[in-house]
Order: sequence, then C-alpha cells, then structure tokens
Amino acid sequence: MTTRTKIKEVLKGAFINQTINVKGWVRTFRNNSFIAINDGSCINNIQAVVNFETTNPETLKRITPGACVGVTGTLVPSQGKGQTVEIIVSEIEIYGDAESDVTKPNSYPLQPKAHSLEFLREIAHLRFRTNTFGAVFRVRHTLAYAIHKFFNDKGFVYLHTPIITSSDAEGAGEMFRVSTLDLKNPPLNEQGDIDYKQDFFGKATNLTVSGQLEGELGAMAFSDVYTFGPTFRAENSNTTRHLAEFWMIEPEMAFFDLNDNMALAEEMLKYVINYALEKNKEDIEFLSQRLIDEEKQKPQTERSELSLLEKLNFCLSNEFAKITYTEAIEILKESNHNKKKKFQYLIEGWGADLQSEHERYLVEKHFKKPVILTDYPKDIKAFYMRQNDDGKTVRAMDILFPGIGEIIGGSQREERLEKLETRMAEMHIPAEDLNWYLDTRRFGACPHSGFGLGFERLVLFVTGMTNIRDVIAFPRTPNNCEF
Ligand code: 4AD
Ligand code: MG
Repeated sequence: MTTRTKIKEVLKGAFINQTINVKGWVRTFRNNSFIAINDGSCINNIQAVVNFETTNPETLKRITPGACVGVTGTLVPSQGKGQTVEIIVSEIEIYGDAESDVTKPNSYPLQPKAHSLEFLREIAHLRFRTNTFGAVFRVRHTLAYAIHKFFNDKGFVYLHTPIITSSDAEGAGEMFRVSTLDLKNPPLNEQGDIDYKQDFFGKATNLTVSGQLEGELGAMAFSDVYTFGPTFRAENSNTTRHLAEFWMIEPEMAFFDLNDNMALAEEMLKYVINYALEKNKEDIEFLSQRLIDEEKQKPQTERSELSLLEKLNFCLSNEFAKITYTEAIEILKESNHNKKKKFQYLIEGWGADLQSEHERYLVEKHFKKPVILTDYPKDIKAFYMRQNDDGKTVRAMDILFPGIGEIIGGSQREERLEKLETRMAEMHIPAEDLNWYLDTRRFGACPHSGFGLGFERLVLFVTGMTNIRDVIAFPRTPNNCEF
C-alpha cells in the first residue's frame, strides 16, 4: 500500500512519475473524469483523473462534492490549465459519501457555487471546507504559533492563568457567573441575597475577563510572562468586533515602562503579521484577491485604496503613530467630521470615551497608519493603571488598527501600594478580595507593564475579514451558541 502524502507536499512537484496516494474531500467532479480533492493542507486542490470507462459506474456515482475519497495513481505533469500536476488514478476508495441531490433530506449544503458568509455562518460546522474559511483558519493557526514563538524566543514563560475566577479584573462587571446552585431555588443569606457560601467554590465565581492580575504575579517572579487563553465577556454588544468568548494574549513584563511596553507590542504585531505573510502566502493572496473581487461590486468612492496585501505590508513598513489621548481629542474636535456632525457621538471635549468611529477616524483618515494612544483619563480606565502626576490621566495605551479600531489595550501598572489602594477605594473595589494581588505591591514591587491583544481582532486584520464571527471556529455572541 502506498502511504498517504498531503496535497501541499504533492503540489510541490517532487513526486513526478511516482505512484502516490492522497486522501481528502471532493470539491468538484467534472465530466465524469476530473476530481478536485482538497485535504486542508493548503488552499489548492489536487486534480485526480479517473478513467470512466474502466471505473465501476457505482463508484463514479459516489464521487460527489463533500464525499471523502482516497486515490492512488501516478503523478504526472498536467495537460490542462489551472494546475501543474495531476494524478492519473489507478485505484479509488470512497471513505464517506455525501448526498448531493439537494431535493433529498440531509444533502450536502456546500455545492460548488459561491455561498454568502452569512449562510456559511449558519453551517459553521462545515465551513472549514470552503476556500475562504480554509485560508482564514490556516492563517489563524499560524498567527497563534507565531505568537508563542515570538515570546518563547524572547524567554517569556507561558503562564496558564485560570478560567474560573472570583475577580473582575477589568471592573466592568461583564461576567458570566459560574455556579452549581439550583437556579430555581437558590439558598439565601440573612439579607435575602443569594448565599454563594453554599456554592461550589464557597464564593461567587465567574469566567475570567482577563488573565492579567494573575499574570502580574507571574511577572514578579519570572520577569516576563504571557498568557494566551479564552476570555469571556458578557457585554451585550452585537457588533462585528465583539465576541462573548474570545482569545486574548496578555504579556506582562517586570521593569518595563510604557515606552518599553509600546515598543514590544509594535514589534510583536509586526513579527506575527510578517510570519503569516511568509508562511501563508497563498492563503493571504487568495484572501486579498477575494477582497479585490468584492470591492469591484462597490461604487468607486467606497472602494478601499489599498489591497489586503498592500495594507499588511504598509503596516510592517511604517512606524506606528504615537499620541496622547489629549492630543487625539484635539484632532477629533477640530476635524471636519466632527464639525459637520458626521460622528454619531460628537466629541465635545476632554474626558469623552472614544468610540470605534473615532478610533477609526484617527487611524484611517488622519494618520493613515496604526496609532498608539496613551495617557487616557483615569475615569475611563481600569483601577490598576499607573497614575500620572497630573492627577487626571493614567499610563494607558491602546493600539488602534485600520478597519479594526482597538486591537490592543494595555498600560504601565500602578506599582505604588498606597496609590493603588486609594484608587481601588475610590472605585469601590473591595481590597479584601484582591489581597493576593496587592501582595505584589507589598513584597518586592517594581515598575511593570503589560497589554492584552485580542486574538480574533488580529486575525480579522490579517485575513481582511470584516466580521469577527468569521475568524473564530464557533462564535459565541448574544443569542448565539450553536455547535
Ligand atoms: O482592553 P481590554 O479590555 O484589556 C484587558 O483586558 C487588559 N487586562 C489587558 C492587559 O493589559 N493585560 O482587552 C484587550 C483586548 C482589546 O484591545 C480587544 O482587542 C480585545 O481584547 N477584546 C475583545 N475581542 C473580542 N471580543 C470582545 N468582547 C473583546 N473585548 C476585548
Ligand atoms: Mg480596552
């Protein structure tokens, strides 16, 4: 028996005139002769040519889109256009059929034609078998690998922070409760509130919104750590940028100030984007072409100036702009966009939280490149950020990307115990719950910084997809938890 070769290897051409075996799923079957097989190892299919005169007609009938087949035969240079090599099949095995008669129940929904992304989202369990999603999820894999490689090569320790926690790191209260209490009949305490002392962990717990606080503990021992795990937010934002379950990368570095933090974030983003461009060239070229075709449907004025490939390269070759929040507010306030009331939320003055429309204006219209905004008002940021001497702002940084808005949020941390305690009291964060966290400030505290990269937002940027539901395998959003 010939051992199986993955199609990616076959297409490199080294096996010419040899007998090989490939296995995969049928994309199309033309003229009772030409099977396009894809095994997910790359965007391209291999063409396998069967002889319909010598092949069992019953077998031929079973070669339908979606069916799983294995073919053995000789690899030869291809006569036809569209491929350089093809397999002249001597033996075919059908592993699994797929009903292609759409009038029958349970027929294979991915017949060879263009499907809308919305339709494919409804059949997310099958969409990996399309060119677009094959490319997206291979790129996603590469980006995840590149992130681990980047930090590993720099000597960071990968810390697995907990998924179940009792803290609300971001203080936004957007948490999914974790409980084994009887919802219909929960135990109550003397005040008439739910008595979480009787719950599984003996206290109220939730799914984590961030691994940062635990990450900081790691940084106070290993110097440099990062987390890369699932993160949960029960925010009811039904947007193309928010998920209820997403993946976040959170590095935390001892002895880093905000400038070091910004430099590391920029270096990391450029490193992983470049890595994907190198390793997934064909996938990204495919995605870039897909967008060019899509753009052609739009009126000239709405088309984007840069293709996906140009956008990625542009991001690699330009230094990110760095401005303070205060400077950003000035730019936004004075912008024609604001004056002509084109923003949904008009910028009246200092202190306003920036909406995604403002972030995108700065990046796409004003600077035309990624922007790092620093030193936000303390009242719109989390308790742990280092307070500036002005008493008004904190050492925060948000990195804003074209088409995305905020891709990274981070800060230098408040390492001074007293200042941190005062801020927590002001924000009504009970110190007794975070005693363990405050220990980092009691025992050998040092200046340190970190940030959180939303992994799906990075994948959105690199693949050029526009809806975050299309870059995570099985999206969780309000009213949607299929598969
Ligand atoms: O800005 P955020 O809330 O920052 C933190 O959680 C910090 N603890 C990070 C740190 O300093 N260690 O979230 C970080 C990033 C955002 O910039 C965004 O890219 C992503 O996480 N993000 C989401 N991505 C998808 N869906 C959501 N609901 C997201 N919320 C945040
Ligand atoms: Mg943020």
